Amino acid sequence: MRVLKTVLGLKAALQEHQKQKVGLVPTMGALHYGHLSLIERAKSQNDIVVVSIFVNPLQFGQGEDYQRYPRNIDQDISLCHGSGVDILFVPSVEQMVIQSQQMHYTVVPPEHLIANLCGPFRPGHFAGVATIVCKLFNIVEPDTAYFGEKDFQQLVILKKMVEDLNLPVFIKGCPTIHEPSGLAMSSRNIYLSAKEKEEAIGINASLTHAKRAFDSGQRLSSSLLALVKVSLQEKSPNFKLQYLELVDPNNLAQLEKIEDAGVIAIAGYLGKTRLIDNIIFNSQLPIVTIDGPAGAGKSTVTKKLAGELGLLYLDTGAMYRAATWLLKSQDISLEDNIAIAEAISSIELELLPSDSSKYSCEVYLNRERVTEEIRSLEITSLVSQVAAIDSVRAKLVELQKDIGKKGGLIAEGRDMGTVVFPQAGLKIFLTASVNERANRRFKDLQNQGIEKTNLEELTQEIAKRDHQDSIRKNSPLRKADDAIEIITDGLTLEEVCQKIAKLYFGK
Ligand code: PAF
Repeated sequence: MRVLKTVLGLKAALQEHQKQKVGLVPTMGALHYGHLSLIERAKSQNDIVVVSIFVNPLQFGQGEDYQRYPRNIDQDISLCHGSGVDILFVPSVEQMVIQSQQMHYTVVPPEHLIANLCGPFRPGHFAGVATIVCKLFNIVEPDTAYFGEKDFQQLVILKKMVEDLNLPVFIKGCPTIHEPSGLAMSSRNIYLSAKEKEEAIGINASLTHAKRAFDSGQRLSSSLLALVKVSLQEKSPNFKLQYLELVDPNNLAQLEKIEDAGVIAIAGYLGKTRLIDNIIFNSQLPIVTIDGPAGAGKSTVTKKLAGELGLLYLDTGAMYRAATWLLKSQDISLEDNIAIAEAISSIELELLPSDSSKYSCEVYLNRERVTEEIRSLEITSLVSQVAAIDSVRAKLVELQKDIGKKGGLIAEGRDMGTVVFPQAGLKIFLTASVNERANRRFKDLQNQGIEKTNLEELTQEIAKRDHQDSIRKNSPLRKADDAIEIITDGLTLEEVCQKIAKLYFGK
């Protein structure tokens, strides 16, 4: 692990890793398991992990704990070393070029994102965070940056910053890590006396109380917040509440009632220590995505899992078939991109569960049932050509996203987890070695009595297709940053499905 103190040193170190995937974990040090879980995630999704430690003066207000904020660099270095961090960036205040708190460019978050929660209590705090994180992004140029959900408002503000300023980085929010007692991990917990720590446990316990009510159907903000308050009074009588709010997790607006999702966020003081925590509620039905190369067994696994998990099988293949059928039935040439775009832009497609085990779903195109028609040999021979047309792909991805709004589905393809449903709760990247896939295909063809039985040729074909799939301009095959890879070599269909079902149920 390199420990670097200067921007030039860091840039020189990163030069050695060009074209590699870089994950960044920005921190203020005094590392705990919460940080280590971010590092672990970054390790599993990148080639290089950079951790920054910088106690950022811009995000501390007057009277806040900048001077006494816990600093423990020796321990941090050994924790990072032990966690496999590649580069630890520990710049000085001078390196981050913050000469005067009045004289520097600032990233100012939009008013509506700082109007409630911590915003009014910590004026200037989020501008300080956004400014320093923006600088870190420009210095490190990471592919993905990892932040904990404990600082929920910070996470929403940073996601919006990246979106609004087109910063080329993906922000990954990661779950809060709690101590066994339930207390949310925080560098500031070391300020707490033993007695205060006892009381601090009541904060998360009170939020969990509201979660139980939500799980049993309570959706009203007033009722959920009242439950937290009563529980807090009982469990943490000395906790001086600063705010307790239920907000929309996307735009932080206060909610009267949870429709799809909500967050209860809380802040207050125990003695002199300011503590925050939150709990996220989501009533949206789950989405599972299964991506991976051709021949890894995606469609068989997906069909089986849809039944077992009680999810709708979003058969995107059937959607592309329906689009192909539409073009054919209107006599549109597959070379005429303009006519195709015109025809496809107003397509109406509905997929409904099928009673027959023959079809994955019933397909209605512009209100006409086309379930059988789209499976003809002619359509089969044309569908991959149609699926590669930009306008078709764009329109069908839009329709898939629309269907996904309700959730409750499982979808397989090449870009389900990366492009279509980046919000999916469980993303699987199902793959198998080229040899394994060639062997399976070989057996399939033999079983079908098809005489193409040259295994070597099949192996080469699959390797070539993998390469083409990974470099194609439109939706190249790429594992989503947060997808879990399952290599199916030597596993039976049941074993693969069991593995995924376990992940789905969080076991
Ligand atoms: O969450 C933190 O520790 C800080 O706010 C951050 C993101 C490192 C910016 O200084």
